[in-house]
Amino acid sequence: MAQLELIHLNKTFSPKVVPVKDISLTVEDGEFLSLLGPSGCGKSTILRMIAGLELPTQGQVVIGGQDVTQMQPGDRNIAMVFQSYALYPHMTVYQNLSAGLRLKKVPKAEIDKRVREVAQILELNELMQRKPGQLSGGQRQRVAVGRALVRDSDVFLLDEPLSNLDALLRENVRAELKQIFEAQQAPVVYVTHDQTEAMTLSTKVAVLNDGYLQQLDSPDRIYSHPANQFVAGFVGSPQMNLLTLPCRDRHAWLGNFQIPLPNLPTIPSEVVLGIRPEHIRLAQPGERPTIQGRVFLVENLGMYKLVSVQVANSQGSPVTVRTLLSPNEDWSNRELTLVIPEEVTHWFDPVSGDALKL
Ligand SMILES: Nc1ncnc2c1ncn2[C@@H]1O[C@H](COP(=O)(O)OP(=O)(O)OP(=O)(O)O)[C@@H](O)[C@H]1O
Ligand SMILES: [Mg+2]
Repeated sequence: MAQLELIHLNKTFSPKVVPVKDISLTVEDGEFLSLLGPSGCGKSTILRMIAGLELPTQGQVVIGGQDVTQMQPGDRNIAMVFQSYALYPHMTVYQNLSAGLRLKKVPKAEIDKRVREVAQILELNELMQRKPGQLSGGQRQRVAVGRALVRDSDVFLLDEPLSNLDALLRENVRAELKQIFEAQQAPVVYVTHDQTEAMTLSTKVAVLNDGYLQQLDSPDRIYSHPANQFVAGFVGSPQMNLLTLPCRDRHAWLGNFQIPLPNLPTIPSEVVLGIRPEHIRLAQPGERPTIQGRVFLVENLGMYKLVSVQVANSQGSPVTVRTLLSPNEDWSNRELTLVIPEEVTHWFDPVSGDALKL
């Protein structure tokens, strides 16, 4: 039983620097939790408190039912991979991988077996006799991940372990990590500001902003039911269109076009409409379009073109909407008729940013 629990965790460095504010969450055995959020939102500080490298100002860290808040890092059975690799420079890769097990006096044959298994997974076999100074950044990072994996830990903590890898290697190692952690039981907490990593690796994602937990949910729910405007804008690439629109006659007005409001107890004067670029599509011949507008920018993303459209607005300045369209056509300067399907719209309160309860 190695479940991890954070209870009302707070960290104050100074009156102005309060990077962790009342975080409560649980990571069960076999779960992979990502802490996702922009730089400085408190991700590493949370991880360091779990590891015991930082003492919470308030709150508790509980592992396997035991309160470890005041326990020294060395007394918690935790494996951690840091943003910087922190390898022993005078040791070979083999020695780096096996150091933790040697300290724990694990029999030599057992150490050798585990080190070779992990080296195989992370493709480190050829590098076993080299020292960190003779490795590339990506290779060093794989050794750092390997060092955490060889140990039989109660909790795995990883702080942006892929941030120093180039894009291709990152994708490969990401896929490897997924397989590796699927095969083991201990809870994993993975810090990243990369939403693709969070979405592909995790069973659960905690989106953070400014020290506050914004939403804790499965990757699917985070994407399909963002709890507020921050989550909606942070997760998804290209970013969701978030449009502050006036409301009249049970409709939101997108430029000169009406969009039916969902059933709300009271009609606000303004509302934020969220719609992902991939959900806006061209109207079929004869189909009633939701909006019309002129293309003023086309960005080729390879698989799609990201097309920015200006929707005329006789009440004010034009409203810009971005949509993903086929890469095989030239969309420049075209007048487009577009459909915004009602079932994929999101509605937010313009003041609080919270999703409107429908
Ligand atoms: N030891 C410290 N003393 C004072 N302030 C600190 C300390 N450690 C972190 N901070 C501050 O706390 C805030 C959160 O830092 P943290 O490292 O947790 O962010 P992060 O979410 O991991 O960001 P990044 O994605 O850039 O790594 C930052 O404003 C940082 O400057
Ligand atoms: Mg960090």
